[in-house]
Amino acid sequence: MFDQVAAAPPDPILGLTAAFRADERPEKINLSVGVYQDETGKTPLLECVRQAEQRLAEAAGTKSYLPISGLADYTAAVAELALGGDHEAIAGKRIAAAQTPGGTGGLRVAADLIHAVLPDATIWLSEPTWPNHPNIFAAAGVPMKTYPYFDAAGDRLDIEGMLAAIGDMPSGDVLLLHGCCHNPTGVDPTPKQWRQIGDAAAAAGVLPLLDFAYQGFADGITEDAVGLRELCRPGAELLVCSSFSKNFSLYRERVGALMAIAPTAEAACAVQSQLNKVIRCNYSNPPAHGAEIVNTILRDAALRQQWEGEVATMRDRINGMRHALVDALAAAGVPGDYSFMTQQRGMFSFSGLTKDQVNRLKEEFAIYIVGSGRINVAGLTPSNVERVAECIGKVVG
Ligand code: LMR
Repeated sequence: MFDQVAAAPPDPILGLTAAFRADERPEKINLSVGVYQDETGKTPLLECVRQAEQRLAEAAGTKSYLPISGLADYTAAVAELALGGDHEAIAGKRIAAAQTPGGTGGLRVAADLIHAVLPDATIWLSEPTWPNHPNIFAAAGVPMKTYPYFDAAGDRLDIEGMLAAIGDMPSGDVLLLHGCCHNPTGVDPTPKQWRQIGDAAAAAGVLPLLDFAYQGFADGITEDAVGLRELCRPGAELLVCSSFSKNFSLYRERVGALMAIAPTAEAACAVQSQLNKVIRCNYSNPPAHGAEIVNTILRDAALRQQWEGEVATMRDRINGMRHALVDALAAAGVPGDYSFMTQQRGMFSFSGLTKDQVNRLKEEFAIYIVGSGRINVAGLTPSNVERVAECIGKVVG
């Protein structure tokens, strides 16, 4: 049977990391996958995580199954982190929620839910978007279309095109938005633009789905929730996929959550039962460890303060490297004005490098970035940034 099977193409992001691992050139630099590294090039185990794990090990609980929707304390803490503890959707019990294996797992559960309960809905993806978004919705059988998002000429949000497209979306469709730190462009709506997007989505009767994977990496933990909190209006419906891979540096623990915010508490109960149904026939119930870590940190004042400081350290380092890259490009005499990179937010910089230039960086200089020209700024360090800038100069020159 299997001798008939054609090979699938490598994943545009994780496939590059596999190629990077296999690359034997000692000078290689991986700026592809969105993983934070400190200035020594190491992905840190956060101190708050280390302390939480120690407490969990000492408490030595059970390894019996979690409920289908995961730890209720954890999903409640996630809702408070995303919306603020005093949000009316929490008080009104309008939230159905599930702990999911990472943000990707949350997106897949959301896609399965949409397919099950909104069978006529099309999901609208920003152009461009994270390359795994279309894979996830295609796998769940949800039809997709795209809306304009990025104005490449002005390196800005194409807010006019985006609002016009939302206005034309059929009522009942789903609008996928990036909660902050848009992947791959690093270009986010301003608070005023979030209001316009919320108004347009409400007027069109579309259901927003927020992919919220970088809370704390742009301006701050509360500040980065401005879009979500704008969209989550009284009685409004919304899907939110949270990921704690980046902001807790818990990548391999696969910690995420899906919230479905319903118009009433009764509707939330029905949605919860549908969520449980799609999870049960997928992975049955989630793994516990990562969620227990996040729950322990968010529920302890001292650990939470420690975490907020560690997120700020990661955010500041990334922003510092944005400026260092722009300075290094100028110092290397690379033609063009790259100052737009300092305005981009989150882990990524959409560099404008072409596929061909990206390919030359890999083949000739062992520098790996994503084919779209997306650079993981969080992989730059004081000791590699000059070489990266010089090599960029060689491929654009
Ligand atoms: C990325 O965009 O690099 C990250 O979200 C990691 C991934 O799974 O693609």
